[in-house]
Amino acid sequence: MSLSVEEQKALRGTLGQFPTGVCLITCAVGGEKLGMTMTSFNSLSLTPPLILFSIDKRARSLPQWEKAEGYAVHVLSSTQQDLSNRFARPGDKWAGVPHGTGLHDAPVLPGVTALMECRAFRVEDAGDHLLFIAEVERHSADPDRDPLVFARGRYAALETGERADTGWPLAIHY
Ligand SMILES: Cc1cc2nc3c(=O)[nH]c(=O)nc-3n(C[C@H](O)[C@H](O)[C@H](O)COP(=O)(O)O)c2cc1C
Repeated sequence: MSLSVEEQKALRGTLGQFPTGVCLITCAVGGEKLGMTMTSFNSLSLTPPLILFSIDKRARSLPQWEKAEGYAVHVLSSTQQDLSNRFARPGDKWAGVPHGTGLHDAPVLPGVTALMECRAFRVEDAGDHLLFIAEVERHSADPDRDPLVFARGRYAALETGERADTGWPLAIHY
């Protein structure tokens, strides 16, 4: 099934009602550093520990991503909107961006709210995107940093008011 331009716009609007965090996912291939802003990140499995993200087939760097042996998934913090914008545009994404090197040589950036270093597990064809599944090998989180939020096609902030007492954990397998 293929959608008309209007139908695609409508579906984007519907999907945009689902808020996400914003990830900067990096990798290194043959000495070249790659980084891309992505909201398609999600958790997938605990046994084994798997996460997923997807990349548009039109992305210039896609052929390189397919060769990567691992990735560093950064969950951006509320102060890192500039980084999100920078890594969503073509051009020299890395100029002046401080970073170290993590597993599989993936660039690792400071100041994030969470970091997952992963090894490539599987790449699946999925319509106009490729679906990347990766196994988490090392991770860390900084609960004192609020995550950057994306909803309805724009950045948003997490509301940090009083939490309702939901009686967590709920009676589901999460
Ligand atoms: C908030 C936000 C989320 C994005 N999420 C994705 C995503 O999940 N997958 C994707 O392929 N592109 C996503 N993009 C677009 C890419 O970041 C952008 O097209 C990418 O930098 C292109 O890479 P290239 O230089 O290799 O072409 C997103 C952009 C923004 C601003």
